[in-house]
Amino acid sequence: MNVCAVILAAGSGKRMELDTNKVFIKFDDQSAVVRCLKTFEGTGLFSSIVVVCRPEEREIIRRKAARYLKGNTFIFCDGGAERQYSVENALEYVPEEADIIAVHDAARCFVTHKIIKDCVSSAIRFGSGVAGIGATDTIKRTQNGVVTETLKRDELICVQTPQVFRVDVLKKAYKKAVEDGFLGTDDASLVERLGETVHIVSGSVDNIKLTTQADVAEGEKIAEEQAKKASDIRIGNGFDMHAFAQDRKLILGGVDIPSEFGLDGHSDADVLVHAIMDALLGASRLGDIGKLFPPDDMRFKDISSIKLLKEVGDLLRKYGYKIVNIDSTVIMQAPKISSYSVKMIKNIAQALDMDEIYVNVKATTTEYLGALGRGEGAAAQAVCILQKR
Ligand code: CTP
Ligand code: MG
Repeated sequence: MNVCAVILAAGSGKRMELDTNKVFIKFDDQSAVVRCLKTFEGTGLFSSIVVVCRPEEREIIRRKAARYLKGNTFIFCDGGAERQYSVENALEYVPEEADIIAVHDAARCFVTHKIIKDCVSSAIRFGSGVAGIGATDTIKRTQNGVVTETLKRDELICVQTPQVFRVDVLKKAYKKAVEDGFLGTDDASLVERLGETVHIVSGSVDNIKLTTQADVAEGEKIAEEQAKKASDIRIGNGFDMHAFAQDRKLILGGVDIPSEFGLDGHSDADVLVHAIMDALLGASRLGDIGKLFPPDDMRFKDISSIKLLKEVGDLLRKYGYKIVNIDSTVIMQAPKISSYSVKMIKNIAQALDMDEIYVNVKATTTEYLGALGRGEGAAAQAVCILQKR
């Protein structure tokens, strides 16, 4: 089964009364639209994800997506003046091989893997799966402020998104809506007009749609709860050692340290940064520096290891890791490097886009013991803690 998602972010969020589109509101340091895309991408269910946005916001969303997401499934398209027209545009971009399509509002940024998976499973089995929760308020029909009917509460469902359907059915529904000039407020209402059965799947009270300011405070609570549940802490350690050589610079933590000799290696041989990269890659199980930057690859000849560290940081971010802290030790008999540690910390923190207070660099000798003590080279070890979100 080929499953495609359509994420709607092309509104303007008028009822939110902000200067910016509400899909850019941040929760736990991540904008609503990125949260949504991350959750959808993270399910691993979707072969393609069509991101519908306003043309003037496309670059911002694309940039955010490139920073935080793998993004290899994304297709961008413009929205329309109404939600329904935005979906209509998106349907043109759904790849031909798609069998199932999940439509979701980017403003429902607290959607979970479970809800998405349940809706998609229902669509695979029954042709449709629409998230919804039972109404808790009694709902009345009115006319001019006067009640004309009290609806039976136990028959009422408040529908949410995702709304998932077989592609052929949804396309047919949208075609019919255009022909009839029908404008609905969700996708299911268009499918219902075909006489097709629409199946409801359990959504969640936390799957709120950011609509007014009150939803922002509620969203912050939900984000906090979700972060607590999802918190996944990893520890990593890295070690590296290089021999000293003539006619080489001594680069440690990206700082060029005055010295008679430097460290030998394929790159700039920054042993400290190498140990840190291996700690980060170890904690995230994304391999090691040898695998990512092979020593026989000429692209890495004499390269600044700080550049490679930045690449490692970008990779971790895309896989959803936040670096909590890094501690490291350089083991070297001479020269003394403690006066350079502030600059090293700054370089490392900058490359990883983190606060300097969470990075530490120390130095020690081996009291003249062993190869390091005899001044044959330098080693470094590092530990880090990562939090996966
Ligand atoms: N949406 C869209 N295209 C539109 C209108 C809405 O893609 N022309 C998206 C919104 O970005 C949102 C979702 O559809 O993620 C649900 O719509 P709604 O909550 O109404 O969002 P807005 O239209 O942005 O808000 P408002 O109605 O308050 O202006
Ligand atoms: Mg709207």
